[in-house]
Amino acid sequence: MPVSRVARTRLVVVVAVAAATVATACAEPRETTPTLAAFNEAAWTPPREADIPADSMGASIRRGLYLLRFTPESLPTYAPGGMRCTSCHQEDGLKATAAPLTGSHSRFPKYMPRSGAVITLADRVNYCITRSLAGSVLPVGSREMTDMLAYFAFISRDVPVGAKMAGANGLISMKDTLVGDAARGRAKYETTCVVCHLADGAGNGAIPPLWGPRSYSIGASMSREERAASFISHNMPQTAPGTLTAQESFDLAAYINSHPRPDSPGKENDWPMGGAPKDVPYATPGHEPYRAPASLVPRARPADAVVPNPRTARGEKGMK
Ligand code: HEC
Ligand code: HEC
Repeated sequence: MPVSRVARTRLVVVVAVAAATVATACAEPRETTPTLAAFNEAAWTPPREADIPADSMGASIRRGLYLLRFTPESLPTYAPGGMRCTSCHQEDGLKATAAPLTGSHSRFPKYMPRSGAVITLADRVNYCITRSLAGSVLPVGSREMTDMLAYFAFISRDVPVGAKMAGANGLISMKDTLVGDAARGRAKYETTCVVCHLADGAGNGAIPPLWGPRSYSIGASMSREERAASFISHNMPQTAPGTLTAQESFDLAAYINSHPRPDSPGKENDWPMGGAPKDVPYATPGHEPYRAPASLVPRARPADAVVPNPRTARGEKGMK
C-alpha cells in the first residue's frame, strides 16, 4: 500500500524539525562534552570471586580469573615462562598499588604513546603477554582472550567511562626520581629478597623470577627502573610491603634490571613519535638506552612476540 498523504506530510514535518534543530545547533555552538557524574571511588567495592554469577557469563568470568592466576599452566604455548598475570597484578588485579585492572574495561580503546596508536583492551592484554610474560600473541578471537576480557568487565562493574581512578595509569609514579645503585641493591637483595626469589633471581613455584630466561622481557614496563622501583616500594617484600625507602627501591630495581632477560622484538619501534621516558633501557626514536641489561635472551618465536597496531580493513583506503 502506498504511504498515505497524511503520513507523508508528517514525515516531511519531522524531517523539517530535525533539520531546524541541526541548524540551531550549528548557529549557536554549545558545550557538547557531557559532564560526568563524579565517580565516588571510596564508596565503590570491586566485585570479588564470590560475586561471580552461576551462569554462562559467570563461567567465562571465572575462566578469565583462573587464566590470570594460572597463566603458564593454562596457556603453556602462549606463556611458557615463569610469570603469571597475578605476579604483578596482585590480588586478582584488584590491588591499587600493583597496576590494578579494576576499571580497565572502561578505559579502552585508549591512545598508548608507546605504540603511537589507539589500541583495544585485547591488544593491551597482548602487550602484557608478549612483553611481561615474554610470550606469544594470543588470538583476539580466542575463548581464552574473551574470558579474560569478561573478567575485566566484571571487575569494572559500575565504573563509568572516563572515571578518574587510582591506578588508572598503571603503577603509581615515584615522587622522587632517584638513580639506583646496583651494588647497594645487591646487598639489600641478599638480606631481604633472596629467601623467596633466590640468589639467581629464578624464583620458585608461585614466587616469580626477577631475571633470566623465564622472567619479564626488556620491553615490559617493569624493565624501567622507576616502574620497578614503584612496584617494589609499594608491594615488596611480600611479607612487609612499605618498609623500604625510595632509594632502596631504586637500588633494588637497578640491581634486578642489570641482569639478562628475554629480548622484546620490535622494541626499537616503540614511542614512534618520540618522547620515550628517560629510563627506557633500549634505543627508540630520539632516545638512548638507559642502563641496558647485561645481555638479552633471544626469543624462540620472535614474529609472534610483536603486537601489530590496528590496521586499515582489507580493501579499504583508510582515513587520515
Ligand atoms: C611483569 C609484570 C606484569 C605481568 C606479569 C603482567 N602485567 Fe599487565 N601490566 C603491568 C604493568 C606495570 C602495567 C601498567 C603499565 C605501567 O605502569 O607502566 C600493566 C597493564 C596492564 C593492562 C592495562 C590496564 C589499564 O587499565 O590500563 C592490562 C589490561 C594488563 N596489564 C593485563 C595483563 C594480563 C592479562 C596479564 C597476564 C596475561 C598481565 N597483564 C601480566 C605489568 C604486568
Ligand atoms: C615472602 C616471599 C617474598 C619476598 C621476601 C619478596 N618477594 Fe617479591 N614476590 C613474591 C611473590 C609471591 C610475588 C608474586 C606476587 C604475588 O603472588 O602476590 C612477588 C613479585 C615480585 C615482583 C614482580 C614480579 C616479577 O617476577 O618481577 C618483583 C619485581 C619483586 N617481587 C621484587 C622483590 C624484591 C625486590 C624483594 C626484596 C625487597 C622481594 N620481591 C621480596 C614473594 C616475595
